[in-house]
Amino acid sequence: MSAKLGGTTSLPGAGPPRAAAVRSSPRLIPVGGGKGGVGKTFLVTNLATCLARMGYRVVAVDGDLEGANLHTCVGIQQPRVSLADYVAHREEDIAKLLLDTPIRNLRIIAATRGNLATPQPGHGRRVQLMRDLQRLDADIVLLDLGAGTHPAVMDYFMVGEEGIVVIAPEPTSVENAYSFIRAAFYRRLRLAMASHDVRRVITMAMDERNERGIRTPLDLMKEIQALDSAEGRRFVDTMRAFRPRLLINEVRSADDVKLGFSIRSVCRRYFGIEAEYLGYVNHDDRVRRSVRDRRPLVDLDPSCDAAVYIGRMARKLAARTQAPPSDRGGARR
Ligand SMILES: Nc1ncnc2c1ncn2[C@@H]1O[C@H](COP(=O)(O)OP(=O)(O)OP(=O)(O)O)[C@@H](O)[C@H]1O
Ligand SMILES: [Mg+2]
Repeated sequence: MSAKLGGTTSLPGAGPPRAAAVRSSPRLIPVGGGKGGVGKTFLVTNLATCLARMGYRVVAVDGDLEGANLHTCVGIQQPRVSLADYVAHREEDIAKLLLDTPIRNLRIIAATRGNLATPQPGHGRRVQLMRDLQRLDADIVLLDLGAGTHPAVMDYFMVGEEGIVVIAPEPTSVENAYSFIRAAFYRRLRLAMASHDVRRVITMAMDERNERGIRTPLDLMKEIQALDSAEGRRFVDTMRAFRPRLLINEVRSADDVKLGFSIRSVCRRYFGIEAEYLGYVNHDDRVRRSVRDRRPLVDLDPSCDAAVYIGRMARKLAARTQAPPSDRGGARR
């Protein structure tokens, strides 16, 4: 594995972005979580809509080639092109996959009609995809990931250091979120380390029943510091830079709200990882109606609690986006 995916603007071999002189790369925000059905697509749709309404030029990318449905949530019935065309090399220009939506400033890349035999692109193609997404003419690119910890999902999640982990307040989802964070961190580490021996120890640690008894990233850190002090320092740097954001969805009680804080402290105590609690969204039956109506909830019912909370998180995300929304003068969607 030669290419690294960490960081948003420094893919090795990527070279300067084509239009670097005139604009900066969009911010890439991956949204994952390990478990299926926790609300990733719903949240990407609605966060993207809020950001677009704020004037950012937003692209929402459906990264779920095996369960594409982002297009439906924004009211597109039959996408004419999709990421599957890119995976199959039928289309090399990612910008040609962009589809307008009924929401001004929001475009999507759908993921329909994937090849069932080989739905996921190989590693090289994934690196190319991330590089191409960074060249899109947009301010923010949100990536809706599939469930699980497939290497493709982890690669997409690592494209930015501020990926969002969506968690439902139920033990299975919490368990999967920990596995997801751990998998993302170990994969990031393995790519960041230069020494072959250290990478071998990380690969070993990825097996929870490894013979050295390395159970947590903190155990692993001590092991690596003893093995190679320069790599130990790199480990700590990688650990500090990795700041997943936790989002609890379908909250029904005060205890559910607190879950975000307890997961954050477990991450700190056992993983040595500083996660951020981005916020929560309550359970609301209107969410299902919005999906049925193929309209984002923040559009359908902007004053309901869930929509208000999503708006708050969108503003938090926007606060970190350097480029202010430019004046589009209504010229483009
Ligand atoms: N806050 C919420 N309140 C009520 N229902 C919700 C909420 N969030 C999501 N849902 C419902 O949960 C279901 C799953 O949501 P969604 O498709 O966004 O999950 P997902 O994580 O993208 O799933 P997958 O992993 O299969 O892609 C949908 O029917 C959606 O309407
Ligand atoms: Mg989904």
